[in-house]
Amino acid sequence: MSDATTVTVLGAGTMGAGIAQACAAAGHAVTVVDRQPEALERCLATVDASLERLVRKGTMSDDAAAQARARIAVTTDLAASVGGAAIVIEAVYEDLATKQALWRQVDSHAPAEALRATNTSSLSVTEIAQASSRPERFCGLHFFNPVPVLPLVEVVRAERTSPATLDEAVAFATAIGKTPIVCGDTPGFIVNRLLIPYVNDAVHALGEGVARAADIDTAMKLGANLPMGPLALADLIGLDVTLAVIESLHRETADPRFRPAVRLRQLVRAGKLGRKTGEGFHRYE
Ligand code: 3HC
Repeated sequence: MSDATTVTVLGAGTMGAGIAQACAAAGHAVTVVDRQPEALERCLATVDASLERLVRKGTMSDDAAAQARARIAVTTDLAASVGGAAIVIEAVYEDLATKQALWRQVDSHAPAEALRATNTSSLSVTEIAQASSRPERFCGLHFFNPVPVLPLVEVVRAERTSPATLDEAVAFATAIGKTPIVCGDTPGFIVNRLLIPYVNDAVHALGEGVARAADIDTAMKLGANLPMGPLALADLIGLDVTLAVIESLHRETADPRFRPAVRLRQLVRAGKLGRKTGEGFHRYE
């Protein structure tokens, strides 16, 4: 990569904020782009809260947090923000048409040699890359929530990703302190292929009356020593994202094991998307 210090993050949601923070903490100048100014404000508030938490826990010094924060700029101007980017990471809503339209726009402004990456959790990277005139410079960089805490990045090799692009993506993930694992462009990649069916199954169990939501979560925490229960995890991931992943697994494989749980869809339709809306399987202040 010619210059890995200028990163543009497209999308100011939970993942966009986390990715921006991780890149800035590693010394990169980051610009976060979103169409909605309010989303950009929320993004900065999320980063502030996360940095504060890391400082409070002694994981990061005051100085390092202030420097990381100072490296993050926000804008609604896509053209200007990608113009000088060495790497563009897209983390917008999980909708193929939205992502492809955005990448077409990016392509007309970004340097030809810029590394292009999508953080998609449920769509085909190869298909998203078809909207780019540089599919050989395109790959998946799939981060995990909360990004400042979880070390994994799945580096997804799409059908047309060049070996040099893949190497650069691995080097970039390593340089920001993450552990990259290379995987193919298959539905759910590695983690979501295994994790989301488990979460979806917990919603089936809830629907079957196996136990209350709180008890299902406590059971998996105490009985399987997991950091959080599956329904609380769905609330953290976002029920819309969880549904998008399980629907994608179901659609792509036609495997009945991946049948989306009815309750998951009901909550998404009601706008109860988990922590980000204050209510999902649990309520949040
Ligand atoms: N920013 C900074 N630090 C954070 C943080 C944040 N947003 N969230 C948690 N932390 C830190 C805490 O300060 C704490 O630090 P310490 O170890 O130094 O004390 C540590 O992380 C643990 O947090 P808590 O003590 O508050 O304990 P929690 O139970 O609240 O831990 C958790 C939170 C890290 C979220 C933990 O429960 C966990 O790892 N859960 C599983 C998360 C998971 O599986 N994520 C993957 C989802 S799949 C995905 O994202 C892919 C997508 O495509 C769907």
